Amino acid sequence: MEFSVQTANPAKIETACLVVPIYKVPDHKSRDLLPAVAKLDDASEQLIGQLVANGDVDASLANIQLLPYAPGLGAERLLLVGLGEREKCHETAYLKALDAAMTALLKLPIDNASVMLTEVPLADRDTGWKARKVLESIERASYRFDQFKRNPSPAPSLTQLNLMISNAADAEAARQGAHQGSAIGQGINYTRTLGNLPGNVCTPSYLADQAEQLGRDSQGALDVDILDEEALAELGAGALLSVGRGSREPSRLIVMRYNGAENADEAPHVLIGKGITFDTGGISLKAGEGMDEMKFDMGGAASVFGTVKALLTIKPKLNLIFIVAAAENMPDGAATKPGDIITTLKGLTVEVLNTDAEGRLVLCDALTYAERFKPASVVDIATLTGAAIIALGHHATGLLSNDDDLALDLLDAGEAAWDRAWHLPLWDEYQEQLDSNFADLANIGGRPAGTITAACFLSRFAEHFPWAHLDIAGTAWHSGKQKGATGRPVGLLTQYLLDRENDAQVENGDD
Ligand code: BES
Ligand code: MN
Ligand code: ZN
Repeated sequence: MEFSVQTANPAKIETACLVVPIYKVPDHKSRDLLPAVAKLDDASEQLIGQLVANGDVDASLANIQLLPYAPGLGAERLLLVGLGEREKCHETAYLKALDAAMTALLKLPIDNASVMLTEVPLADRDTGWKARKVLESIERASYRFDQFKRNPSPAPSLTQLNLMISNAADAEAARQGAHQGSAIGQGINYTRTLGNLPGNVCTPSYLADQAEQLGRDSQGALDVDILDEEALAELGAGALLSVGRGSREPSRLIVMRYNGAENADEAPHVLIGKGITFDTGGISLKAGEGMDEMKFDMGGAASVFGTVKALLTIKPKLNLIFIVAAAENMPDGAATKPGDIITTLKGLTVEVLNTDAEGRLVLCDALTYAERFKPASVVDIATLTGAAIIALGHHATGLLSNDDDLALDLLDAGEAAWDRAWHLPLWDEYQEQLDSNFADLANIGGRPAGTITAACFLSRFAEHFPWAHLDIAGTAWHSGKQKGATGRPVGLLTQYLLDRENDAQVENGDD
């Protein structure tokens, strides 16, 4: 989607459609129009105000009404978007109205539109933030996944979106926000596609090919290194390899490097994604119902790819390493069995009491591998435990960390991007649940606090750097009628890294 920022009088803007936000007023009689909307109203003989006052337009949250005419205005039509009541119009409501508006806009037979949604006041959110959310929303609303359908739905005709800004002083912030929002939206959509692809297409080698492709498209900005099973065996990554042993699809460790920092030696930030391209549970086979959704078990890896894609557009001045631990978890004569003892890359032995607790096994070797980069921080992202859904449902990503400052940075990034996480404890008391009679540790910690003991397992491999774990089991995809990958937490991760760039600039005195 192309975008531009307009600072003209909204009444004069020539556009195929002007998107106009309106508040719901308790008694139709009163009017509560945003200043920019009042300008439109004056130029159109109080068209909008009258429709609201007469009760002909319902400004309930996310209600959309098209006016196919716009007398006295430069716009050919108006799309009125209900914001609900002014007092309740905070981020969640605003974003709901925004998504509804962008979805409706894309159904119109037009190629350009102007939106006034950055004019809606939100406490502590500036024009740049709103511009970013508008572009992110239109990108998400444009998303289609119908490559396997005989009759794909027609692509939207809209190609140009203009942001109408009243205060010209905000124009640059809006442009920058829109640029980032567009990159993040496209990153989110890429993550959704990788997640939605079926397990027979999106295999560990397919993910490796995606990394190679990103490397080729990056014009030298992204170096890609793929470790195959032979290289992994040579290295001693016994935990990662134990997961793919029952699969015909070979495992891969995918490493992508981005060197954008002015100081080439600056310590990198590392993201690690769980890339189980299908999780049957292995010999500890899962129940059949809903098992298809285990194609989304590479959601952590997909979010790493989406973040890479967004950052290759935004080009932050940072050194970054992205690692994807990819394998397929299948039962087979060669598969790892309950009770098997494996040796991790770190050298610790693990008693595999349940082959369905495989995510931590691929991640622990990736964490050990990350040590060699002497990272400033390491964040792993994984659809790790069903228990995370029990604890937090489908709204918050679970966050666990061995470093409170890093945890706070991630919580802040989640708030800023409105892709939120919630901090769970990683106290020593939980560690003993992983004791094994036969090896250094067991791969499961029993039923209590399953999300925490999974993180405890990972923490044993993250002793040498600030590390955080994001459990996205509840947030990476929707089930039911809306089944599909969400693209989370690309928003959080991108924000987290852009915040690190800001920190570095403040430290260097560039800002
Ligand atoms: N990929 C699953 C976690 C999962 C399950 C995510 C359902 C989303 C929905 C993971 O590999 C797994 O199977 N975890 C087990 C761990 C248990 C055996 C300790 C789980 O959560 O049941
Ligand atoms: Mn599993
Ligand atoms: Zn899994």
